[in-house]
Amino acid sequence: MAGGAFVAAGGKGQNYNGGVTAFVVFACVVAAMGGLIYGYDLGISGGVTSMQSFLDKFFPSVERKKKAEEGKDNAYCKFDDAILTLFTSSLYLAALFASFFASSVMKIFGRKPSMFVGGLIFLIGSILNAIAPTVALLIIGRILLGIGVGFGNQSVPVYLSEMAPAKLRGALNMGFQMAITIGILVANLINYGTNKIDGGWGWRLSLGLAGVPAILMTIGAIFLPETPNSIIERGQVDKAKIMLQKIRGTDNVDNELHDLIDASEAAKKVENPWRNILQRKYRPQLVLCILVPFFQQLTGINVIMFYAPVLFKSLGFGDNSSLMSAVITGGVNVLATLVSIFTVDKFGRRILFLEGGVQMLLCQVAVGVMIGAEFGTNGQGSFSDSKADLLLFFICAYVAAFAWSWGPLGWLVPSEICPLEIRAAGQAINVSVNMLFTFFIAELFLKLLCHFKFGLFFFFAAFVVIMTVFVTFFMPETKGVPIEEMNRVWKAHWFWGKFVSDEAENNKVHDHNTVARD
Ligand code: BGC
Repeated sequence: MAGGAFVAAGGKGQNYNGGVTAFVVFACVVAAMGGLIYGYDLGISGGVTSMQSFLDKFFPSVERKKKAEEGKDNAYCKFDDAILTLFTSSLYLAALFASFFASSVMKIFGRKPSMFVGGLIFLIGSILNAIAPTVALLIIGRILLGIGVGFGNQSVPVYLSEMAPAKLRGALNMGFQMAITIGILVANLINYGTNKIDGGWGWRLSLGLAGVPAILMTIGAIFLPETPNSIIERGQVDKAKIMLQKIRGTDNVDNELHDLIDASEAAKKVENPWRNILQRKYRPQLVLCILVPFFQQLTGINVIMFYAPVLFKSLGFGDNSSLMSAVITGGVNVLATLVSIFTVDKFGRRILFLEGGVQMLLCQVAVGVMIGAEFGTNGQGSFSDSKADLLLFFICAYVAAFAWSWGPLGWLVPSEICPLEIRAAGQAINVSVNMLFTFFIAELFLKLLCHFKFGLFFFFAAFVVIMTVFVTFFMPETKGVPIEEMNRVWKAHWFWGKFVSDEAENNKVHDHNTVARD
């Protein structure tokens, strides 16, 4: 991208004026509702699908099967059931498809409409879920929720990245992940409460309450400002300047505006972000937009998020303690995300990725060894109190490591590395790969646990090794680099530099622009 190359040479982007205004913070808080919605979904299904009244109403055959199997004591296979996992996983498949439409909506109409549409569809889905009289409507509701999540996950991280000043982009963008983790924790707590409601309608409340953040996001999207990048993308430079001044809290925004216009001009020359991202010069972005979400899911985190109550129950924790354990891991998830927020723009992304990877690896191996030693391959056994506590400790340390590394960075890095002309496509790829593998994990985990037994934890540990090696060699530091200047990071990289340096030959038009402006 010429804009990036030109700017990088001058390095002036580092001197953009302005900081975090209340305006930015408010906008980001509202936008982060998208994360809350997503987190709520991640956290709510595990509890709901284990509620008696929910199973009685929609899946009586599952209940019968479970009762029949209660006698057989194989901890690894207790909860392996196709229909229930489909209830959990269908949402992520819908989100996957939706994110492709969302990418066009975002490009043509801006980030705001995309958030608005997402919030509205999600709201309808949660109402349907709350009143669903039949399984069919329940599933339709899940699909609508998925579409809402697809739109939200597509537009919110991009929105946050574009609103934030470069030096704080990491921390503000992480508002999104923070909201996800709060959503998960709130969902755990709500399930804990609604499970106790007499009359068997607690699950309706659990599912219906998802509408609350959806309302906030929908209404918020009406009042939020559009990002300057998006306004320029649609040709209104003067309006963009006023907006940028408002957002940055200073009149002196010429440098940044110049760079945004420059980037946008380059972007306009290229009509199809999907064709663009396949070009050789965008190979680093393409590869990272695929691998980062893939790796994020292959950490195995959603095994804990979806199935913690089930997992703890399988491992011999009592009913109440298993739910409490889920709440504890949910709490650790939120707190550890804060660590990331406060360190990511100071120490950078790589150190968090690397430390988090090593910590996750150690914990996964420890969990695998403990479960293997206690339950062997036949799945029979139970933990003593002290061993159960130790296991919980390792699971919490694993969740913490994820929550300050791959959790937030899995969304931050893909959203900050793509220049405007490929941003919509890059983000769509990121969201869909994430959803695809979230879907696979939701679908397959209980089956895999049943077959691989404790070895499953080593399986995820092996992936953590691979991703940590990948970060070491192929992930450059992107801390504090303005989005539109990211190109110089690739150019300077020992491996990616080979792809990006071809740019001068491939893109004469951009070079011409650059020189003319100079
Ligand atoms: C991931 C989710 C995960 C969550 C846990 C997110 O970054 O995308 O799949 O459940 O973190 O906090």
